[in-house]
Amino acid sequence: MKTIEQLYTKKTSFYHHFFIDALGYGKGLEKFFENYSYLKENIKILDAGCGTGIIIRILTEIAKKKKLDGIKYYGFDLTQAMLDLFKKWISKGNDKNITFKKADVLLLDEQLPKDWQNYDLIVSSAMLEYIPKDKIRQAIRNLGSLLKKDGTILIFITKRNLIMRLLIKMWWKANMYEKDEIKQVLIDSGFRKIIFKNFLFPYWHLNHWGFIIEAKK
Ligand SMILES: C[S@@+](CC[C@H](N)C(=O)[O-])C[C@H]1O[C@@H](n2cnc3c(N)ncnc32)[C@H](O)[C@@H]1O
Repeated sequence: MKTIEQLYTKKTSFYHHFFIDALGYGKGLEKFFENYSYLKENIKILDAGCGTGIIIRILTEIAKKKKLDGIKYYGFDLTQAMLDLFKKWISKGNDKNITFKKADVLLLDEQLPKDWQNYDLIVSSAMLEYIPKDKIRQAIRNLGSLLKKDGTILIFITKRNLIMRLLIKMWWKANMYEKDEIKQVLIDSGFRKIIFKNFLFPYWHLNHWGFIIEAKK
């Protein structure tokens, strides 16, 4: 088993309860998606590195509240234990339009069904920092190839700073990025319209953790 998969197999519940619940990442994401209109009726959304499914959980709730119908949700992740928690949530009778699969973002060609393409929106939250820096362009190009021509990719990724060096790099073994560095990565991976966004009040503390980047080809 690969190291990242081992890490997340061991820390599945801890990650969900500490990062998503205690540090307020889930609430910060909720506020962000409530504020922006990424959701539209009948679109197709992919959560790349979906883990326990926090993004899809939030999006399905917002879609329900806003009465947006016909949205199809897809997710993939490297770690079966994370997907198992997601599956548990889905099986409690939540949205039926959710499909997920175990896959590595670097091997999407071999591991995803051929009809997983033409996405209107691809979200990747706290996953791309686990890809070795010399392979992140390949990972983003792989995701880009699944987007519709005018589709949007939305990336949440760890920032380089002292706190994150202690918390994320040493503890969670993830990479960190400077603003210009991640922007260049996106340009090299075929994206042109790149916009940096922020977590919103009262979840500003999450802006110490990471960047939110919206990009189109
Ligand atoms: C910090 S968790 C984030 C999970 C979820 N996106 C969230 O926001 O809560 C990182 C996730 O990335 C997944 N991951 C790491 N490397 C991956 C890869 N090469 N392909 C797919 N998923 C990967 C891990 O299995 C883990 O579930």
